[in-house]
Amino acid sequence: MEYVEIFDTTLRDGEQVPGCKLDSKTKLIIAEQLDLLGVDVLEAGFPISSPGDFNSVEEISKLVKNATVCGLTRAVKKDIDVAAEALKYAVRPRIHTGIGTSEMHMRYKFNATPDQIIERAIAAVAHAKSYVEDVEFYAEDAGRTDNEFLARVCEAVIKAGATVLNIPDTTGYCLPEEYGAKMKYLKENVKGIEKARLSCHCHNDLGLATANSIAGVQHGARQIECTINGIGERAGNTSLEEVVMIMRQHPYLQLDTRINSKMLFGISQLVSESMAMPVQPNKAVVGANAFAHSSGIHQDGVIKKRETYEIMDPKDVGVTESAIVLTARSGRAALAYRAKNIGYELDKLQLDKVYQQFLVVADQKKEINDDDLPKIIEASNI
Ligand code: KIV
Ligand code: ZN
Repeated sequence: MEYVEIFDTTLRDGEQVPGCKLDSKTKLIIAEQLDLLGVDVLEAGFPISSPGDFNSVEEISKLVKNATVCGLTRAVKKDIDVAAEALKYAVRPRIHTGIGTSEMHMRYKFNATPDQIIERAIAAVAHAKSYVEDVEFYAEDAGRTDNEFLARVCEAVIKAGATVLNIPDTTGYCLPEEYGAKMKYLKENVKGIEKARLSCHCHNDLGLATANSIAGVQHGARQIECTINGIGERAGNTSLEEVVMIMRQHPYLQLDTRINSKMLFGISQLVSESMAMPVQPNKAVVGANAFAHSSGIHQDGVIKKRETYEIMDPKDVGVTESAIVLTARSGRAALAYRAKNIGYELDKLQLDKVYQQFLVVADQKKEINDDDLPKIIEASNI
């Protein structure tokens, strides 16, 4: 089994969600939980962006005991100086610096030639290295960067001292096969690659962030950058809970993380409430319906054996139990099960009668709850 490091960026890329800004106190509460969750790296913010962000990175650096604390910068000397200052109390500080490497970014953002971009990348890494040992380099828009040029950039920054190479699919454009092939290409063609860790940083514009990150680690990357609930710019980032549980539920991948998965549901709720960003009910792993069964066929199966319709034990992600939801699509098995839970043991004849009454009410009401059941049983004259 090999470990894939989890780089959490909920407090940096995640916090770039429009209208969901967190105050410093809330950031500290979330950072503490992320450290307990077992993330390997915690990206605390972008220190030069505002005094508030600087302060958060500094306070998180003082607080966090286990994870590496990371601050983002552009490939700009002043950004790096400020990040180093904000990280000075961290037990394990990391500076995350980088520059755009795709044709689009080089031409329109930087108006620079490929050689000038490489020079700036080297200078940024070397400067960051003068402050900290652990320097991560991001090649922004790597997803749309030509692989040969990307390999040249990676080789140059490794020589300058980069310890981690972040290969972001900044625009969420890649297909899993393409993103996996990019990692494989870098593993096979970058001189000195054994000195650095390749990292996946995928955005979800086409709903492929999780699939791309998994393809990345299947082809040699050993770090995934992700956020709780997949929050982030536009359609968001790779969702932490998804990649962690994919690796755990597929042991043949021979990859695992150090995440305490039993904390996933709780931390998902914490981030959702703090940011006033509800989790979609059908969200994988942590959504309200992720372990809820409402159709008769599924309910009958789950009551007989949970694994008929569940590939994860809800307890493993911090959800107390699977839910049997009573709706007009439910069957007798579910009705008997829920009635028994509140103290009504129904025989076959009684169940038939109650079920008829149940259907009448369920056709008018979205969901039948434990308060409705005694009334339905009484009205069935059994
Ligand atoms: O998506 C991206 O390219 C980023 C970098 C700044 C790491 O978030
Ligand atoms: Zn990003």
